[in-house]
Amino acid sequence: MSILSSTLKEHSLLGLKELSASEITSILDRADYWDRQEQKLVPALANKFVANMFFESSTRTRFSFEMAEKRLGAQVLNFAAANSSLEKGESILDTVRTLEAMGMDAGVIRLKPVGMLQELAERVSMPLINAGDGNNEHPTQALLDLYTMKKHFGEIKGLKVSIIGDIKHSRVARSNLWALQKLGAEVKFTAPDVFKAPELEAYAPYVSIDEAMCSDVVMMLRVQLERHHEGIIGSTEQYRLQYGLTEERAAKLAPHVVIMHPAPINRNVEIDDAVVEHAQSRIFKQMSNGVPIRMAVTERALR
Ligand code: CP
Repeated sequence: MSILSSTLKEHSLLGLKELSASEITSILDRADYWDRQEQKLVPALANKFVANMFFESSTRTRFSFEMAEKRLGAQVLNFAAANSSLEKGESILDTVRTLEAMGMDAGVIRLKPVGMLQELAERVSMPLINAGDGNNEHPTQALLDLYTMKKHFGEIKGLKVSIIGDIKHSRVARSNLWALQKLGAEVKFTAPDVFKAPELEAYAPYVSIDEAMCSDVVMMLRVQLERHHEGIIGSTEQYRLQYGLTEERAAKLAPHVVIMHPAPINRNVEIDDAVVEHAQSRIFKQMSNGVPIRMAVTERALR
């Protein structure tokens, strides 16, 4: 590997499967540093230009990256697929290379096709940060999840984490699995057969919903209703009763258990309305923690 490509690799963040435990810990520690800063604006990246390129919709990831970049004083350009030359048939690769040619120092990118991000990373010379690629990885989501757990429990090692729902289509489940196991947590999955990912069975067991509730962290995943017709999971009410974090299930959780969800949330499908704001829920805390994590990751890309 050339010096250039190895340096680029160190600055890019394509996924957590390829990161070592010490690299993950170092990002979590740096996020903690940024979290403790009282000043909202620290212009550490004042002369840097970052492009946020979202080829798929987003609220949390897009805005928290922009918040993080602006808090670090970077110049931020947001690419919107609508009204761009994508509509004239320009490829994602040509779009990214165009922005790079204009002088961007790093790119944050979300896209659907699995494998394309790796291909892009090999063909551009600026660091790329994965903001979610298909069902492959969502590294900054998992980092903010781990950060939330670490802040609450003190350490990740030894934690029991249940991930419940649409494992098959979930990049959040995959990134959490890789990172949590590297840091010594035990991961279990719960899902109806249609939502199981057979290739992950070698890494984490599937357990019943009742067993899943006996963990330190109960992480609910969004049912990707836009991908599924009701026929696949029966009705959403049937899903809620069989796999949802209902008020009844939440009431039986041990007091130390933390409830998480990456959001967006389907209230009263995978989690009951009242449970979102439950005293044991850290869902909105996860969203807050997205900013220091993305500050750490953006700084890493541009340092
Ligand atoms: N959790 C998450 O990735 O949310 P967005 O799709 O809104 O970015």
